[in-house]
Amino acid sequence: MNTHWTPDSWQTRPALQQPTYDSPAELGSVLELLGSLPPLVTAWEVDRLRTQLANAAAGKSFVLQGGDCSESFEDCNSGTILRKLKVLIQMSLVLICGSKQRIVRIGRIAGQYAKPRSSDLEKRGDIELPSYRGDIVNHSGFTPAERRPDPQLMLRAYERAALTINYIRALSEGGFADLHHPENWDLEFVRNTPGSRKYQLLLESLSDSIRFMEAVSPGELTQLTRVDFFTSHEALLLLFEQALTRVEPRQRGWYNLGTHMAWIGDRTRAIDGAHVEYFRGIRNPIGVKVGNNLAADELLDLIRVLNPDNEPGRLTLIHRFGSEKIRSRLPALAEAVRRSGHHVLWSCDPMHGNTQTARNGIKTRSFDDITSEIITAFRIHKECGSRLSGIHLELTGEDVTECTGGPGNLTESDLSRDYRSQVDPRLNYEQAMEIAFLIAEQMK
Ligand code: PEP
Ligand code: CO
Repeated sequence: MNTHWTPDSWQTRPALQQPTYDSPAELGSVLELLGSLPPLVTAWEVDRLRTQLANAAAGKSFVLQGGDCSESFEDCNSGTILRKLKVLIQMSLVLICGSKQRIVRIGRIAGQYAKPRSSDLEKRGDIELPSYRGDIVNHSGFTPAERRPDPQLMLRAYERAALTINYIRALSEGGFADLHHPENWDLEFVRNTPGSRKYQLLLESLSDSIRFMEAVSPGELTQLTRVDFFTSHEALLLLFEQALTRVEPRQRGWYNLGTHMAWIGDRTRAIDGAHVEYFRGIRNPIGVKVGNNLAADELLDLIRVLNPDNEPGRLTLIHRFGSEKIRSRLPALAEAVRRSGHHVLWSCDPMHGNTQTARNGIKTRSFDDITSEIITAFRIHKECGSRLSGIHLELTGEDVTECTGGPGNLTESDLSRDYRSQVDPRLNYEQAMEIAFLIAEQMK
């Protein structure tokens, strides 16, 4: 691997999953403008997340990463953002109470707009058009105009990300995020279920503990009035990522200041590919999705290229095998990494290996497969002498019907009732909360 790196050195490597823009002039002026717009995050925040991830990998905390498969521009509104934040904060409380550890909260949010697709083209009847690649590239409607990769959408994505991050920052700094007022995170549609009663009981005991602590220590526990919340996305569309890559004179090196953390998808992690080349040069904490086709020696090569200084907190391995395959795939990888002495943070994505098509043709995931993969992941890491330090979920704060099973016992015929995702099926609020209780149980 060549050690010389620049934000555009990836352009000398094969870049998978990139759209073909038809007007170089328009593309060029969009990228120039993007490169001149202010960053969305700061290098100090990025460094703080890296430190927190190092602590998590060392067993001192746990990472909760979650959000939509793909954010849509339409969902950039106060209600949807608020509900996503609420479910992640509620889940983190459940995890804190169960594990007695700090939780690092990272949204798949404020930039998760580009999607890898299995095919460049989509055919319906006799008509073949470019595949929908996420709102940052083109539109989901099936007409030539809507499927044309439009560079202006990168500017719209940047603006949406900025609006989202601005709202999240304001909410997490105070008032809304105050642990003295957990009622702020209530969701209007929540039914009286065993799950919601469990959560209410947990809040009551938490309020008791806070009152006790405040009675024995002088004044209010002011550090309870805000939460840390970080952003992340799959940095897939490399021209966009390059435009947000900035050098920080007082910090060391180049940062992607469009997000706190970025990850490489399972389809674009080829060691000599453009994505690995881009990622190796940025200072952000980064993730790599680890799927069923990755062999142990390949994984070790990737680790050496992406984290040559073996820096703790730098690299998160997000495995996504599926509830069956995890048993045969994970042990060899976990053993190999442990033997190599590399610092990595292991996280489990129990979603992407468990996607299936229901009898009615709808893409779904079963709650039981998801929980089974999580439980197996905890067990295998323990057996291999490593530690599962994070979870990576596709979820929403809405009452959608996209995954089957769970507390509401959704069946395949329920799926069409409120299926909103344009891409992968997400856990709904009740399912997500139940998963939080399950993980808390595993961590006890
Ligand atoms: C995703 O996280 O939405 C995704 C496409 O995952 P993977 O790269 O693991 O397939
Ligand atoms: Co997905």
